Amino acid sequence: MRTLIKEIFEKSESFIEKEVLVKGWVKSLRKSKAFSFVVLNDGSCFKDLQIIIDQDTPNYEEISSSITGTCLSVKGLIVESGGRQPIEMQGKEPEIIGKVTEDYPLQKKKTSLEFLREVAHVRARTNTISAVTRVRHHLAQATHQFFSNEGYYYIHTPLITASDAEGAGELFQVSTLDLNNPPRNEKGEIDFEKDYFSQKTFLTCTGQLQAESLALSMGGVYTFGPTFRSENSHTSRHLSEFWMIEPEVAFADLDDVADLGARYIQFMINYALEKCPDEIEFFEKNYKEGLKETLNHVSKTSFQKITYTEAVEILKASSKKFEFKVEWGVDLQTEHERFLTEEHFNAPVIVTDYPKEIKAFYMKLNNDGKTVRAMDILVPGVGEIIGGSQREDDYEILKSRISECGLEADDYEWYLELRKFGGAPHAGFGLGFERAIMYITGMSNIRDVIAFPRYPGNATF
Ligand code: 4AD
Ligand code: MG
Repeated sequence: MRTLIKEIFEKSESFIEKEVLVKGWVKSLRKSKAFSFVVLNDGSCFKDLQIIIDQDTPNYEEISSSITGTCLSVKGLIVESGGRQPIEMQGKEPEIIGKVTEDYPLQKKKTSLEFLREVAHVRARTNTISAVTRVRHHLAQATHQFFSNEGYYYIHTPLITASDAEGAGELFQVSTLDLNNPPRNEKGEIDFEKDYFSQKTFLTCTGQLQAESLALSMGGVYTFGPTFRSENSHTSRHLSEFWMIEPEVAFADLDDVADLGARYIQFMINYALEKCPDEIEFFEKNYKEGLKETLNHVSKTSFQKITYTEAVEILKASSKKFEFKVEWGVDLQTEHERFLTEEHFNAPVIVTDYPKEIKAFYMKLNNDGKTVRAMDILVPGVGEIIGGSQREDDYEILKSRISECGLEADDYEWYLELRKFGGAPHAGFGLGFERAIMYITGMSNIRDVIAFPRYPGNATF
């Protein structure tokens, strides 16, 4: 049975002078007269295993002429090394599992992230993308640990839905109708009653509405799944398919979930620092100077909290020239969010109580009648990482907010009923998983923190 390279490094003492079998992909191979050095990585950890193959090995010629990307299996002895790593392997029985053709795209040592996106099917063989992939795994584990420890139940909300839960009209339609010849009603419109679900359906953009239903039965829940948005955003922070973690909490208000969000981010940071030290070190050296110090600091410092109104005052008082002018009532643009979190506070900041006009219909109206109990958490380098709110729990107010926002109350009947059938104050938020990975790795493009990114004009792989 093969041994993971991760295990060999973690328990190196106990492996010395032991024979093991490893399998992985050649990072590099240096050939000399008497022996060859193979650098092998199996994806299990950041570290590579250096393997020395002696020229007396029967298939020496074949092995020593293999190139980067070759899939190898090697049986050999783990020994202490005077090199960069404390251990290395004296390879005894090397075997080629998979050869590499000349057109293997990762021959060169340095390739750009843009180029790697074009070869996403092999890019996890690089230091960068395999490190991101491991951090992503650990942050998912951290998420489950955090919420489970705090007493929340992990739920699964549907991916196909009939409602536009954000009311933003950025949904992908799901249909099995023949696009070339759809059925029509008497008015000549497409007849969605004849569609698969007997109504218009979409890929969900949030699991929130269903999470609210379960929170009002289970107390505290969280959903963690893919969400879909057809917004036409060609930015380094938007994907058409991204993963979102959405806790929903009964008997909680906005401050409770703002605090929960801050503690969750801090928990993830600590988890990554503990589980991925090699990866964080690598990101620090190659992508973001000072990353470790920042993460350490943020994990211990409480987040700043300001209202939207205060944020607008800060922005107006600053001498910075913004492309979009700030006035009370306008939505904050990325440049404003980044100014607040990167320049003004140089720390994560929680912005609360936005004007109702720029937020979704389900947020609780404040007594001023103008603002809602919303919060966004902004972090340096990324901007908005969390969006959340206390939910409107008054049946009549919610109903009128739905129509005010140009939506049909009929489409939200079951959601409204949650306010009639033993309703309770409740609140929740959504954290964009990829944005959290960007923040913790220091990677600057969201397309590099998910294995197969989906964005406008691109669904290859
Ligand atoms: O602020 P948003 O739109 O909030 C909601 O969807 C709420 N229903 C969440 C809730 O209260 N349960 O999105 C939440 C987060 C954003 O803060 C951002 O981090 C991320 O989801 N996000 C995206 N990430 C990548 N690509 C996109 N196109 C994203 N849109 C939002
Ligand atoms: Mg938002």
